Amino acid sequence: MENNGETVKILAVETSCDETAAAVVENGREVLSNVISSQIDLHTLYGGVVPEIASRKHIEKINQVMGEALTQAGKKLTDMDAIAVTYGPGLVGALLVGVSAAKAVSFASGIPLIGVHHIEGHISANYIENKDLEPPFVCLVVSGGHSHLVVVKDYGSYEILGRTRDDAAGEAFDKVARAIGLGYPGGPKIDKVSKEGNPEAIAFPRAKVGDSDYDFSFSGLKSAVLNYLNSCEMKGKSFCQADVAASFQKAVVDVLTEHSMHAVESCGIKKFAIAGGVASNSALREVLAKACGERGVTFYHPSPLLCTDNAAMIGAAGYYEYVKGVRHGYDLNAVPNLKLGQNI
Ligand code: KG4
Ligand code: ZN
Repeated sequence: MENNGETVKILAVETSCDETAAAVVENGREVLSNVISSQIDLHTLYGGVVPEIASRKHIEKINQVMGEALTQAGKKLTDMDAIAVTYGPGLVGALLVGVSAAKAVSFASGIPLIGVHHIEGHISANYIENKDLEPPFVCLVVSGGHSHLVVVKDYGSYEILGRTRDDAAGEAFDKVARAIGLGYPGGPKIDKVSKEGNPEAIAFPRAKVGDSDYDFSFSGLKSAVLNYLNSCEMKGKSFCQADVAASFQKAVVDVLTEHSMHAVESCGIKKFAIAGGVASNSALREVLAKACGERGVTFYHPSPLLCTDNAAMIGAAGYYEYVKGVRHGYDLNAVPNLKLGQNI
């Protein structure tokens, strides 16, 4: 989708969870700057994201991060054609900081405001490094709060094939990491320690969701890991952290791969992409690359920095909304449980 040959520069803002982020993106695919101020160290003390702390930290950082994004891009605010901001889903207090900041800057400068869906942002991260990628394609979105299998029918147009019935994939990684003593943030730590472990050591279940080919369920798997740890304790046996991590990770990767390949085959679409924090998992990327290769399907994935929360992806999604003519008023509010497709 083109914008009559004009260059569109977007200042994008993302504060839905624990990263205060701003970026400048040109025509949806060229990242001129991508500034991410992570709060991980603060939340690590508590073993997970504390919403109150996240909001306060966003307030402290947001102006500096937006300014830094413009400086690193070598641009002024007046060079921008739009301000795009994540308005849901996410933590309400955290979202409100970004939405309020974007509205204030938009109001003061007269530059149009565009509210962006966070998951649409994750999916759009794929456009940045894959200049040839265009819809339609199948996309697996796996983050800390979401697990969705979708068909991206067109820019901003989605058909949801399946979703998680309980825990999101990232949530399962975080909970299991805590249970085996790896701490927060769980996903990257399980990814790392699994390289030392045997993925076949423990037979954890691959959950089936009775009436759906595409839905996921990860809470049973998490319980199976907890049961395994309990039974080791009762028997007075120690457990091998790397084997538990690797076996758990393999169970998640198997289910995600099986559902994804089923979707690709049923839809007859030869393009498959992944998105969200869990999409940076090295085992998942390796197995999906192989599965796509065997089926003659082109596999697209953002680099790890663009999988986890960032504002460049919001600038990418915001561009396609801009081209469609989407503009939001100053009544734009944070919507913590915003559904995919509800924003269109
Ligand atoms: O997309 P994201 O940054 O934030 C949300 O929108 O939720 O995803 C964060 C999630 C966390 O649950 C984190 O543990 C997981 O992504 N994650 C990973 C990896 N890196 C981040 N999970 C598995 N392997 C990784 N390498
Ligand atoms: Zn996210």
